[in-house]
Amino acid sequence: MAGRIPEKFIDDLLARVDIVEVIEQRVPLKKAGRDWTARCPFHDERSPSFTVSPNKQFYHCFGCGAHGSAIKFLMEYDRMEFPDAVEELASRVGLKVPYEGGGKRAPVEDSADLYTVLDACAKFYQQELRKNDKARAYFDARGLDASIIERFGLGYAPDSWDAIKNTLGTSAPRIALLEKGGMLTRGERGTPYDRFRDRVMFPIQDRRGRVIAFGGRILEKTEDSGAKYLNSPETPLFHKGQQLFALWQVRQAHSKIPRLIVVEGYMDVIALFQHGVTQAVATLGTATTRDHAELLFRNCADVYFCFDGDRAGRGAAWKAVESVLPRMRDGRQAFFLFLPDGEDPDSLIRREGQAGFEQRLKDAMPLSEFFFAHLGADVNLSSLDGKARLAEHARPLLTQIPDGAFRDLMLGELDRITNVKLRVDAPAATPRKSARPQERTLVRSAVALLVQHPAFAESLQPPWLFATLRQPGIGLLAELIALCRERPTMSTAILLEHFEGREEARALHKLAILDFPGDNDALRAEFVDAIRQLDRQTHQQRLDDLLKKQEDTALGADEKDELRRLLAGKNAPHPPASPD
Ligand code: UTP
Ligand code: MN
Repeated sequence: MAGRIPEKFIDDLLARVDIVEVIEQRVPLKKAGRDWTARCPFHDERSPSFTVSPNKQFYHCFGCGAHGSAIKFLMEYDRMEFPDAVEELASRVGLKVPYEGGGKRAPVEDSADLYTVLDACAKFYQQELRKNDKARAYFDARGLDASIIERFGLGYAPDSWDAIKNTLGTSAPRIALLEKGGMLTRGERGTPYDRFRDRVMFPIQDRRGRVIAFGGRILEKTEDSGAKYLNSPETPLFHKGQQLFALWQVRQAHSKIPRLIVVEGYMDVIALFQHGVTQAVATLGTATTRDHAELLFRNCADVYFCFDGDRAGRGAAWKAVESVLPRMRDGRQAFFLFLPDGEDPDSLIRREGQAGFEQRLKDAMPLSEFFFAHLGADVNLSSLDGKARLAEHARPLLTQIPDGAFRDLMLGELDRITNVKLRVDAPAATPRKSARPQERTLVRSAVALLVQHPAFAESLQPPWLFATLRQPGIGLLAELIALCRERPTMSTAILLEHFEGREEARALHKLAILDFPGDNDALRAEFVDAIRQLDRQTHQQRLDDLLKKQEDTALGADEKDELRRLLAGKNAPHPPASPD
């Protein structure tokens, strides 16, 4: 029985493993001096603050504070348990993990036994397949050859209530394990019996290739054959929403996975492999979850989702969109492929071959297109009401996209579809200025112009003299300018989004819809001029401060100098940069 892993072994292990290699296989690293950097895989960020130090053999994120050793990384990133992470690293460097005998049973042991028992079940089903002509004829009829059957470890569960139970359940604890692994079930009389009977069997493997569950398909439809596919129930090893069928086989087939294709069925995956498309995985009879999405993207940046072209298929695709959006960090891409009526990837690749299927992948719809097409389908975009409803549906989804260029682009597109047309098509609907307009201070005007035209920020050059001006809104103005200059894709919508939840949000919304007469160039000049005036006021403010101080106390040498320069007008603001 396995026990604790000695600390000494952990030390030796960490001394042999290179953390840079371990992390690089999962997160692309860039060399930066002695260290390596990346955008942090543990929080959303735009610029890399995640560093890996080969000298110190640890990783650290200056953004979110995540840090640790190679073991900790695997635990956090691959969501492994401690002993599994140790096993994984040990196998990389060819060490065998010693377990201290005796002691308390660690919970992993149980898992270790479960893996063993499920592996034995898979082997048993494979043997049975060799013995059973009917089952072999079934796979044969579906076009699978011996090598693909071997690759996927396909098998056959005999037509018996106790084949597994009698063969592998040789003691009470083993029967308990079989039950825990989902291989036995209990009827009303409470006696356990084989869950899978007279079905062809598809083992489901985890990311390390260990069998954790099964899917079983009936060979032909009869009155009492039950559901076409039967899957293992949720067990300590198997959580449907977190597993992808065939991810192991895909990883085996590629050192770098060029793309991942998500299909619905076991047979779809296998048929694609059989015809040379070796990057397909399947969700296990469930909708695509966020865990699935993250798992997919961690293995490959380009993910293609295949769905039926019918209503149900589009519904399922939309569910996938909802799961994928929160995982769309920059660099990741999702595509949607809708199949012709009555076809699935299995039937399609048989008819059209690898080249035909690849062409369909090339023509797949990008996520952005599907997103707006789907939401736009139910509303009338030529009406104000329709635009408002589109915005209302889209916004809460788009704000789940991690901060970055993709999010900016999507919000910008929403802005384009809703706001811009709204102004052109329906000027009457532009919110009226309130009857008693608020006083138009320079700061207010500058903020309003910038909110409406974030690109104006490019016309300014530091230093920001006005930033020290004591007037309401100056801090906000400075913040907006910095933000707009930092993000060239900034639009009004993105800017407002950025302030969502802050107390300034309401005021900014109001300023965003203020009406300014004049064309773009005139407005830009107005903005630049407002800033120049604020700079002048700042100049005056400082002058006043120093003069006042001089009345009360003596000025220091530096202050006297400054005062002299100010009085001579030497520190006056620069002339504005000419608008481009
Ligand atoms: P489909 O009904 O689309 O079948 O189920 P398929 O994959 O085309 O199967 P074949 O070609 O008839 O063999 C798609 C997936 O949905 C799950 C299975 O994971 C299946 O692969 N499913 C389907 C079930 O879990 N139970 C069922 O009864 C049917
Ligand atoms: Mn099918």
